[in-house]
Amino acid sequence: MKLKVGLYKTVTVKDEEKAELEALYKHPDVSEVIILEPGKMHIEIETDNVRFYFDDKLLNKDLVDIVISRSGFSSVPTAKELIKYCRRNGIKVFDNNLTKVNYLINKRADMIKLASAGLPVPKTFLFLRMSQLEEYLNRGVLGFPLIMKQTNTGQGSRVFKVNSLEDIQNILIQYEKKISAFLLQEVVDYQYDLRIIIAGDEYIGCMRRIPREGDFRANFSLGGSVEKFDPSEEIKQAAIKAAQACELLVSGVDILVTKYGKFYVIEANRTPGLEGISKAAGKEIAERVIDFMIKNAD
Ligand SMILES: Nc1ncnc2c1ncn2[C@@H]1O[C@H](COP(=O)(O)OP(=O)(O)O)[C@@H](O)[C@H]1O
Ligand SMILES: [Mg+2]
Repeated sequence: MKLKVGLYKTVTVKDEEKAELEALYKHPDVSEVIILEPGKMHIEIETDNVRFYFDDKLLNKDLVDIVISRSGFSSVPTAKELIKYCRRNGIKVFDNNLTKVNYLINKRADMIKLASAGLPVPKTFLFLRMSQLEEYLNRGVLGFPLIMKQTNTGQGSRVFKVNSLEDIQNILIQYEKKISAFLLQEVVDYQYDLRIIIAGDEYIGCMRRIPREGDFRANFSLGGSVEKFDPSEEIKQAAIKAAQACELLVSGVDILVTKYGKFYVIEANRTPGLEGISKAAGKEIAERVIDFMIKNAD
């Protein structure tokens, strides 16, 4: 049977994301792709009768057979209710364990999960009060430079290199945040910044990301360049373990490798982009991920 697949994305599907759309259209089991944009959603709520609409079309089994939920939702609780609504109405969903894990981006929780699984991670601190940080600096437990990253953002935004307490304070003022919204992390002097795609317990592919000149962040979404990379078996196994530690079915695991070959897992992303990796390592990367998502919708 051919399937109508709904792709649920927070943001309008952009040109830079065409790899995943192409893979969907190309999939032998897919007859139609319907983009479900939260911006075009409305909900009608009555006793025993809740209805989600997209573009004024009722979301039901006539519209889609499967929903793949991707990208950052403006509201995880609402997204969870949407996913449950689909399943109640006979629509299968690939939610990458969102309903189980309850968050999309939480670097604090994920760093704890990665470290607790025994994976090599950069030494990381989270303070609830400035006085705790100052105390650590005074005692020399922490020294500069440090990486400072907001716990609930992605795509390299709000990841900084800081050289003084003043730098930290300026960032807090600029973004009107408390210190508890950030992790402080040892700087890894990396030679390779790798993005590895995992689906289930399988290694799918890897790219190396090279930062734009003047930046230390290698994210593709910040204009970093990409090239195919073949990681060691040890790194592949670490990436699989990282995805599992963060309870992900599909994941984009970021690993930094030093010139001495030592490596650090820095995060496991829940909604990895497929464009950069498909460009670097081939279209079959997006195709295999999309195939996995379709087969694992439930
Ligand atoms: N501890 C670190 N040392 C050196 N560079 C880092 C460190 N943490 C992050 N980076 C750089 O910043 C990029 C973005 O950081 P990351 O933790 O992956 O957050 P995001 O979710 O925004 O991608 C990484 O790909 C890497 O290039
Ligand atoms: Mg990253």
